[in-house]
Amino acid sequence: MNPQDIQSVIPTAPGWPLLGSTIPMVKNPTKLLQNSYNKYGEIFWLKLFGIRIVKMLGPDANEFLLLNKGAVFANGPAWSFFIGKFFTRGIMLLDFKEHSHHRRIMQEAFKKSALEAYLKRMNPAIAVGIGQWPIPPARTKPHRNRSEESNILVFSAIKQLTLDLATNVFMGKELGPEADAINQAFFDCVKGGTAIIRFPVPLLKWHKALKGRQVLEKFFHAQIADKKQSQSNDMLSVLCRAENEVGERFSDEDIVNHMIFLMMAAHDTTTITLTSIIYQLAKHPAWQERVRQESIALGKSVIGYSDLDQLEGITLVMKEALRLCAPVPALPRMTVEDCEYKGFHIPKGTIVSISPYFTHAMETYWPNPYHFDPDRFAKHRREDKVHPYAWIPFGGGAHKCIGLHFADLQVKAILHQMLLKYRWSVDPDYRMPMDLSALPTPRDKLPLHMEAI
Ligand code: HEM
Repeated sequence: MNPQDIQSVIPTAPGWPLLGSTIPMVKNPTKLLQNSYNKYGEIFWLKLFGIRIVKMLGPDANEFLLLNKGAVFANGPAWSFFIGKFFTRGIMLLDFKEHSHHRRIMQEAFKKSALEAYLKRMNPAIAVGIGQWPIPPARTKPHRNRSEESNILVFSAIKQLTLDLATNVFMGKELGPEADAINQAFFDCVKGGTAIIRFPVPLLKWHKALKGRQVLEKFFHAQIADKKQSQSNDMLSVLCRAENEVGERFSDEDIVNHMIFLMMAAHDTTTITLTSIIYQLAKHPAWQERVRQESIALGKSVIGYSDLDQLEGITLVMKEALRLCAPVPALPRMTVEDCEYKGFHIPKGTIVSISPYFTHAMETYWPNPYHFDPDRFAKHRREDKVHPYAWIPFGGGAHKCIGLHFADLQVKAILHQMLLKYRWSVDPDYRMPMDLSALPTPRDKLPLHMEAI
């Protein structure tokens, strides 16, 4: 049998003429993938955004793609298709030798001493940020209908907070009047990735994303000269000074590209993780109380780096929230060589994509997968050990999230302060409505009732 014949064995999910499965994918990817998985199994062709891609589902497929034995998968040409124009030469879009060269230099900005300094910068800014929320004092009598009395849109509040923290921690400054423009530019860049019309038509997603990139470039370029002179410990200053073992550094262009990518990589993912945790803690008040007691027991108004591992309950809750809502729902690659997966031939030049979001809800690996059950990650259960690639919110292999410890400390630092200051609740019938067209976000921004303790 020649490779062409074997290739035809990969089944094709039918779709509409030209658009293929783009619309069902943007509207309800979980349903499309579940239906296709039930029909075709763990590997099938899908037509999306005008091209044919191979979708691979499940932990074995995740392992195959992320471990990338034989260097057959490249990030650049795959991610570039979705976000390349807006996140040009971000580290996630670099490959092989060039990628590892950049990653070695960037690692400077994520070592323990750097993370400790970021946490110190973050703590007071978190207190100011959450202190400004319009939170009333505790009630004496319970209200009948909580959904009618929500006083905070959690997603918007957290997005603002993480942006304020990012500008402080990443750039060592607070954003003034330009904050709205920067926030909008990030938002537009991320949304651009799922544009159906993928050329610049004014007012449409692609065009807005390109404009967003221009705003960000100008913004970061303006900071570099000062930062190179500074001894500050914000991330931009650290990147300006960072060097590898043989003293090589980033160019100005690299610094701008990496900063735009880092801000994007950190901002939305952490916002989604926190939103999802806060939602689950509102739906599960016993868990909220359990983690609050842990924070109280720590006896500190803010956490230090050495406290991170003490907050065992928050660690479990965070893992479970990341399982139920993987902030990066799919990871694409392009084959740079022909390759074979479980007897299926995948030709060179194919975009292949795996799905953490889908894997995390597979019943075969996760009992009662839609149930919020943080203890499944506890020592006595460790359901995630069922397969090394069953829980992959941070990816794996050479491109595994470089910011995962940063995310851990930021999420815990914010939650710790929130738990000590506020209590929150939601109507028991409420279900967070998700928009899964790009990164998963609540359509209604998650309205909650929150009160001071
Ligand atoms: C809970 C929060 C986060 C999640 C779920 C997350 C998820 C991911 C995933 C899945 C990847 C791998 C992409 C791929 O293989 O194609 C990734 C890569 C990356 N992440 Fe994160 N991330 C988070 C937070 C952060 C933060 C806070 C930063 C920076 C401060 C960051 C910076 C990066 C970078 C630079 C890469 C590319 C690494 C490389 O290609 O070598 N991430 N992230």
